Amino acid sequence: MENDQHKTVAFDSILEKAVSRRSIIKSGGAIGATSFLGGASALASAATQATFLMGFEQVAASTADEITLPPGYNHEILVAWGDPIIKGGSKFSVKNDAQDQLLQFGDNTDGMSIFHLNNKNGGLDESRAVMAVNSEYINKEFMHTHKGESMTADDVKKEIFAHGVNVFEINKNKKGTWKVNKNSPLNRRLHGDADEFVMTGPVTGHPLLQTLADPSGANIRGTLNNCGNGQTPWGTYITCEENFNGYFGAPKGTPLSKEQLAYGLSENGFDYNWWQTEDRFNMAKHPNEANRFGWIVEIDPMDPSSKAKKRSALGRFKHENAAITLAANGKAVVYMGDDERGEFIYKFVSQESYIEGDRAHNMRLLDEGTLYAAKFNDNGSGEWLELSFGKNGLTPTNGFKDEAYVLVYARLAARFVGATTMDRPEWVACHPSSPMVFCTLTNNKYRGEKDSQPLNAANPRATNPFGHIVRWVPENRDHTSNRFGWDMFAMAGNPNTQTGLMAGSDNVNADNMFNSPDGLAFDADGRLWIQTDGNYQNEGIFAGQGNNQMLCADPVTGHIRRFLVGPKQCEVTGISFSNDQRTVFVGIQHPGTDWPNADKDGVPRSAVVAIRKDDGGIIGS
Ligand code: FEO
Ligand code: CA
Ligand code: CA
Repeated sequence: MENDQHKTVAFDSILEKAVSRRSIIKSGGAIGATSFLGGASALASAATQATFLMGFEQVAASTADEITLPPGYNHEILVAWGDPIIKGGSKFSVKNDAQDQLLQFGDNTDGMSIFHLNNKNGGLDESRAVMAVNSEYINKEFMHTHKGESMTADDVKKEIFAHGVNVFEINKNKKGTWKVNKNSPLNRRLHGDADEFVMTGPVTGHPLLQTLADPSGANIRGTLNNCGNGQTPWGTYITCEENFNGYFGAPKGTPLSKEQLAYGLSENGFDYNWWQTEDRFNMAKHPNEANRFGWIVEIDPMDPSSKAKKRSALGRFKHENAAITLAANGKAVVYMGDDERGEFIYKFVSQESYIEGDRAHNMRLLDEGTLYAAKFNDNGSGEWLELSFGKNGLTPTNGFKDEAYVLVYARLAARFVGATTMDRPEWVACHPSSPMVFCTLTNNKYRGEKDSQPLNAANPRATNPFGHIVRWVPENRDHTSNRFGWDMFAMAGNPNTQTGLMAGSDNVNADNMFNSPDGLAFDADGRLWIQTDGNYQNEGIFAGQGNNQMLCADPVTGHIRRFLVGPKQCEVTGISFSNDQRTVFVGIQHPGTDWPNADKDGVPRSAVVAIRKDDGGIIGS
């Protein structure tokens, strides 16, 4: 659609300023974001480039049980749940046991990053890379022959092993096909029971992290619910622990603290019932074990003997992903979402600065710094509110006992200082060459319904069934600034069945509409890739939107074009580009019927696909 043709949308007056992209970007309006964006001339030059950003033909919405791509594109499956990724691993079978799963790709692929290896001349080898891929959770109904109906202790172990991070080498052959190199010494599985994690940073060793099995409060078993990811400028992988609460449980009547309740911990969790055979997940006996999950975890993909580091300075919440950038003064800045209705967007700024070439120094950057939570004002300005012990009322008088308490219960701190409750912050993405930052707010049935989540300009739609994407730019283009200007980049919606705010923003139309934006990433040229995890029923208010999908957007003009439609019932999540941008790896999570070949395997399987252009060109061009 033409972005310039303004569709008449009945914005109410207080929201209009913040919601209308045009008011900020084009007229430079009242919101104050324009000065942050660098003025009209910078935008004009960016807009000129934008014409060339998207060269592919838009794909129509679809409900087919297959991957649909634009003409001239193809895809191959790189790896699926249960494929062996470590030497000696068994071939996939639904009958595989826990020991088999230990050497196989985990379930429910999610965030991922590629790290190219060096060639003989010290440059990047375009054909060899290490890939780190998250396995977020498991599907009981597909994981076991009994569909989860008669769980044994070994079945529980299999589920735990199917979580975590998969690290493995991939090689590209002459035809351009990428294959997993099972025999690489770099390959490893950092699963939910792995004894390869240490806590680092200010909370290390604190009583809140101490357990019977680990009185040191520093040696952690496993990582769980590994959702989105991050990739640091110093070549490490970040995996983000999201819905860890679901794995914990307790006997009926076990009292839960206000802190446990604030993180969604409950007697039944998500009905995994691990706590009945794996004692540490029983909160009645081990109340601190859950405090050891919900962190940002840094992994060195090039050193399989290294421990993974849970970085306590970045706070504990339901971490979606981590968008990492370097500020002009070299500080590492990490933007993060907490995916729950009415939770917050966070920012971490490192104390020390990045030093080019000093990897050992850079690998300590995430251990010391300052955490903030975002406040989005209705006038388009914003503030980062500091979450440091002793500041902004985060004192013992107000229940914040010490620094560790503020970080372990960062949600309580963010709420206390008055951060803005958001519509489920999912991924954050930083533009590769300008200070723009984007964040998906996937949906929120409680918005405007619960008193604690009133309408505001950054979350302007009651019950928000479609989700939206906000954008901000730090004051003076400085990511360490405590101020920013923001606007609404897109409001998903359905212009066919809905009116007003529910129809969506100007850049959403009958041909590109979608719901529940989630995965979000820039490629090196500045194309913004949007992945969805939403309602795929294709009926009612979602009629015409089809299966979950991946779209591409121009971050300046706001044009959005559908690039991929996933198979039935899946979520499209996880994205990483090869260095030459001629392959994009995309995750297809929890397909529900036949994909990719349930006739042969007996069950659908989550998988990473490698997408290329038939002519070998740059993806999206
Ligand atoms: Fe793991 Fe919020 O998605
Ligand atoms: Ca997600
Ligand atoms: Ca989601």
